[in-house]
Amino acid sequence: MPRVLVTGAAQGLGAEIARRLIALDYEVVVHGRDASRADVALAAAPGAAGAVTGRLDSFASTRLLADDARRRGPYDVIIHNAAAGGDQSSPVLTEDGLERIVQVNTVAPYLLSALLSLPRRIVFIGSDSAFHGRPAVDLAPPEPWDGPQAYADSKLLLTMLAFDLAARHTDRPINVVHPGWVRTRMGGPRAALPTSDGADTPVWMVTSDEAIARRTGQYVHRRRSEAAPAAAHDPALRAALIARLAEVTGEHLR
Ligand SMILES: NC(=O)c1ccc[n+]([C@@H]2O[C@H](COP(=O)([O-])OP(=O)(O)OC[C@H]3O[C@@H](n4cnc5c(N)ncnc54)[C@H](OP(=O)(O)O)[C@@H]3O)[C@@H](O)[C@H]2O)c1
Repeated sequence: MPRVLVTGAAQGLGAEIARRLIALDYEVVVHGRDASRADVALAAAPGAAGAVTGRLDSFASTRLLADDARRRGPYDVIIHNAAAGGDQSSPVLTEDGLERIVQVNTVAPYLLSALLSLPRRIVFIGSDSAFHGRPAVDLAPPEPWDGPQAYADSKLLLTMLAFDLAARHTDRPINVVHPGWVRTRMGGPRAALPTSDGADTPVWMVTSDEAIARRTGQYVHRRRSEAAPAAAHDPALRAALIARLAEVTGEHLR
């Protein structure tokens, strides 16, 4: 059975994606930020093959997560789902000196991508907020502070990272999925879609053999390839981002 790693699977879309893939007979390794959240993720996805732990707002903890994940790998698919929302009323500096939202949403997926062997498919859960993002390749937070803007910036940077990885490895599907506005903790109770709808395209991008699911370097929504933010197609901007990510993490992307 293909083995899949799903980050941020203790609730919301990650838990739903894990359950769906298990129902389709995938071997799913779930992730929680610590042991108790990993237990919650295991309980949320009965039949999961195991759980890995690690915080994405700490390089040291993300490195331990990568070690843990490597022991349970290799993976056919990695779904970078975990993310921090934009509801912080002020910037939060991590122990690594970065603002927390960009560290969790952009830098941690970079670090995991650099540390784990390359799977056959990668799905980055992005957001249409990326279209309002600033290509802040220096990873600096908005000044003055604006939480939703920081979130949008981090999702644009994540999309740029995904497109750069796709350009480096053209032999496998590496894509960004926008799940829609989904009723989760992050999406809130008034969101348009239940988690089952939000999980549909990410799961389809993992399991389908249709052309879009086999293509790479796309921004996908509702099983359709849509125009991506312009910065994702800008090799110079992407190179500046990757250089900055290598500088802050000390790890190089293959
Ligand atoms: N919901 C929407 O409307 C919507 C729209 C567009 C894009 N998205 C994207 O969809 C993905 C899933 O979001 P969701 O709506 O399911 O949100 P959610 O319910 O808030 O779940 C986010 C997950 O990320 C984990 N996480 C957050 N910070 C972390 C950290 N520092 N270390 C480790 N794990 C961390 C959370 O862990 P805990 O459970 O321990 O907190 C949780 O499992 C995200 O990438 C989000 O940006 C969502």
